[in-house]
Amino acid sequence: MGELNRRKFIKLNSVVGIGATYALHQTPVRAFEFLDKVNQQPAILGGNPVVDHDWPDWPIWNPETDEKRLLEVMRSGVWSRKNVTQEFEQKWAELIGSKRCLALVNGTNALITSFANLDIGWGDEVITTPYSFIASTASILFNGAIPVFADIDPKTFQIDPAKIEEKITDRTRAILPVHILGLPCDMDPIMDIARRHNLVVVEDACQAWLAEYDGKKAGTFGNAGCFSFQNSKNIPIGEGGAIVSDDDAFMDRCFSYHNYGMPYGSVKSDRGGAVMSGTKLRITEYQCAIGLAQLERLDEQTDMRSENAAYLSAMIREVPGITPYELYSKVTRASFHLYPFRYDQREFKGLPRAKFLSALSAEGIPCSSGYIPLNKMPYLENAFNSKNFKKYYGEKELNIDRYNEENECPLNDKLCYEEAVWLPQYVLLGSRRDMESIRNAIGKIHANAEKLKNS
Ligand SMILES: Cc1ncc(COP(=O)(O)O)c(C=O)c1O
Repeated sequence: MGELNRRKFIKLNSVVGIGATYALHQTPVRAFEFLDKVNQQPAILGGNPVVDHDWPDWPIWNPETDEKRLLEVMRSGVWSRKNVTQEFEQKWAELIGSKRCLALVNGTNALITSFANLDIGWGDEVITTPYSFIASTASILFNGAIPVFADIDPKTFQIDPAKIEEKITDRTRAILPVHILGLPCDMDPIMDIARRHNLVVVEDACQAWLAEYDGKKAGTFGNAGCFSFQNSKNIPIGEGGAIVSDDDAFMDRCFSYHNYGMPYGSVKSDRGGAVMSGTKLRITEYQCAIGLAQLERLDEQTDMRSENAAYLSAMIREVPGITPYELYSKVTRASFHLYPFRYDQREFKGLPRAKFLSALSAEGIPCSSGYIPLNKMPYLENAFNSKNFKKYYGEKELNIDRYNEENECPLNDKLCYEEAVWLPQYVLLGSRRDMESIRNAIGKIHANAEKLKNS
């Protein structure tokens, strides 16, 4: 970020005191100093915005220490995978509480590699959530398997474990829980289902760095945990990803797969050359140098996001029609890649969500409506109509109309099309005063809902 923005960021953070005690379940009650402002003219109708300063830029870095790390790699001339990558892998494994870590090009390929090396592919079904980024299901299709969607619990935004079991068929081989938005899935019932039905579990923890369920990190419950370090992520390194697991043989296979199938650990042969059919997904030393630098901030920033999220929730849940996310009772830490709440237009005089979002952003609050349903996009039909899918499954077996019907997720549709509102993670790096401003902006819209609807 520029020097000016960096200074602004430091100033904002110093208000709340970065590194303040973690307080996920704290529900602070404070008098609202600014409630009298809520009847003011909405910014979208010409009034003054509630927030008139910039939010922290993203990504952030330390010009002294981070740039030194990067320059050291550049000047060494060793840019392909070596010591810096190994150091990053070791640190990530330690932080996550996993025996092994493989860093690679991105989270998408972490998922693809995991499925491929757990032998999930053609003929298999993988149960997952319709509320995620396209990479989650793309990784299933890429391996020739079929994604099967279980509806979500709108309160938590996560796959509903109670909906998983009814989706199991004799083809089901795996579950892909996605800790979406950085809020952990309910892992106890999910792992229980997996054990009872002998299913593989790959966790998409691409948004859940350091998130915890029952004191254990997201990504360490299943056979494999996958992470993304893409630029918008809470640990940004441009592009990058990682697989974690305690299973040595699996991790050896993943390493070999990501390096042309060349021998690695237990993946060996006495004939020489590549042992398995692989690809090339190696990360670079300079990406890992940035990763190591980002790791130094992650814990503190995660605390700060959690504390601000709890503070914000306690305030905005008082506004009729606003329902903040809920965490499962066993969640001990969330990473908040996004701050989500549900919007009920009936409590806002019928003001449609799109108008609410435009009004909120005019008040200076970055926001969006989030995902559209993963089970409703054209890529599925496109994949099923491809030569290999037709050949393997046959058109009769993979009938798109039947598939669509069987994969209806009405609660997710409602969440995506009507209810969900997201604030980006960097907003949670603002000050307490900023969180109060968000509450005031929402309150202002609520008070002026009729006028906004008719505008
Ligand atoms: C839930 C989820 N899964 C997978 C991915 C894929 O990660 P990447 O962008 O690093 O390929 C992302 C990130 O974009 C994601 O948010």
